[in-house]
Amino acid sequence: MTLAGKRVLLIIAGGIAAYKALELIRLLRGAGCAVTPVLTRAGAEFVTPLAVQTLAENTVYQNLFSLTDEAEIGHIQLSRAADLVVVAPATAHILARMAAGLADDLATTLLLATDKNVLVAPAMNVRMWQHPATVANLAALAARGVHIVGPDEGEMACHEFGPGRLAEPHAIFDAIAALLAHGGPLAGQHAIVTSGPTQEPIDPVRYIANRSSGRQGHAIAAALAALGARVTLVAGPVALADPPGVTVCHVETAREMRDAVFAALPATIAVCAAAVADWRVTHAAQEKMKKTAAAPPILELTANPDILAELAAAGPARPRLVVGFAAETEHLAAHATAKRARKGCDWIVANDVSPATGIMGGAENAVLLITAAGTETWPRMTKDAVARKLAARIATHFAEGA
Ligand code: C5P
Repeated sequence: MTLAGKRVLLIIAGGIAAYKALELIRLLRGAGCAVTPVLTRAGAEFVTPLAVQTLAENTVYQNLFSLTDEAEIGHIQLSRAADLVVVAPATAHILARMAAGLADDLATTLLLATDKNVLVAPAMNVRMWQHPATVANLAALAARGVHIVGPDEGEMACHEFGPGRLAEPHAIFDAIAALLAHGGPLAGQHAIVTSGPTQEPIDPVRYIANRSSGRQGHAIAAALAALGARVTLVAGPVALADPPGVTVCHVETAREMRDAVFAALPATIAVCAAAVADWRVTHAAQEKMKKTAAAPPILELTANPDILAELAAAGPARPRLVVGFAAETEHLAAHATAKRARKGCDWIVANDVSPATGIMGGAENAVLLITAAGTETWPRMTKDAVARKLAARIATHFAEGA
C-alpha cells in the first residue's frame, strides 16, 4: 500500500510502548508517508530523539518554547501541515489532557490547534484503562470525533493481563491508512460488511449465539476502508473496538442485522462475514424463565432471514459484488462451491473451522477463494493479511471494470 504524498504528525507520549512507535514510523516511511515526530517530555524518557529522528528522516519536535522549533515552524503551522495527527502511544495522562482541552506542552498545544483528524492509540495499565476517569475521557474524545485504535488485550510490561496494550504497529498503520485513504483504488465505492455473531434471545437474560469473534469481518471492513471505500460495518455483539474510519452499526439479532444491512443500501460491495444464527426462538419469553417450572422448557425455533441470499437476489438494489463466507468442518471446497451456487453470491471465502485449526476466534485463517473462475487456495496467514488480500482482490476486480 502506498501513502506517498501523505503527511502524518506523530505524537509519541511517555509509556513503555513508545518503542513500538519506532516500528510504526518504519511502516509509514516504507509506504512513502512523511512523518513529523513530536516527543513529549515523558516520551523522550522511553525512546531517544535520535532514534525517532533517524527513522522518521525528519526533525523531531519536543519543546513548545524552543526558539529553534518556533523559528523553523510555528506550532499552528506544524499542526495544520499534517493530513492526520496520530498519538501513539496515547497514555492515560495525554488522553486526560486532550479531554480537558489543556495546552501545557507542545503535543497538547498541537492537538488543541489542529483542524485535522486525530487518531489515538491508547496504551496503559489495565486498571488505568478501566478507571472511570479514563473511560469518561475516551467517551468525550470519541464524541468529539477523535478516532481510536486498540488497545489490545494481553500481558503487559507490568505482568498484569487485560486490555491496555498498545495496538500492534501494523494495526495502527492500517487505521492511519484508512483515515488517509481518500483517493485510494476503492474511492467512490460503498461497502457493507457484516461481522461477528448474532444473539437470539430466549428470554431477557439468555440467548443463543456462536463462537464467532468478528475478527475477520472487522479486519475486512478496515482493509476496504484503507483502500478508500466508504464502509458500513454491521456488527453483532463482539469484544472488538470499532475500526477507525468506518461507520459502525451495532446489532444483536439476525433480524436487526438484516434491517441494518438493507437500510445501508445502496452499496457496490457486500461482504457477509457474520456468523448469523440460523434460527431464533419463535416466542422468546418476556420475563426470565424460572427453573422451578415442572419440566425443562422445549425451545421452538424459526429460521432467520438469510441476509447473504437476500442481498444476492436483491434485483436492482443488488451490490455489484456480493461475497459470502463458508465456515465448514469437512469437504471444504465442495461444500463452499455448492454454497456459492445456492446463495447466488459472486465469491465465497471458505474456511475450515474444525476445532483443531484454531481458526474460530483465533488470529489466523486459511481460506479458499471460490469465484466463477474456480478455486484458489491461500496460504495460512493472519486474519488481517487475509482481509488485506481480499480487499486488494476486490480493488483489482473493480479496476478490471466489474
Ligand atoms: O448458510 P451458511 O450460514 O453456511 O452461510 C454462510 C454465509 O451466509 C456467510 O457469508 C454468512 O454471513 C451468510 N449468512 C447470512 N444470513 C444468514 C446465514 C448466513 O448472511 N441467516
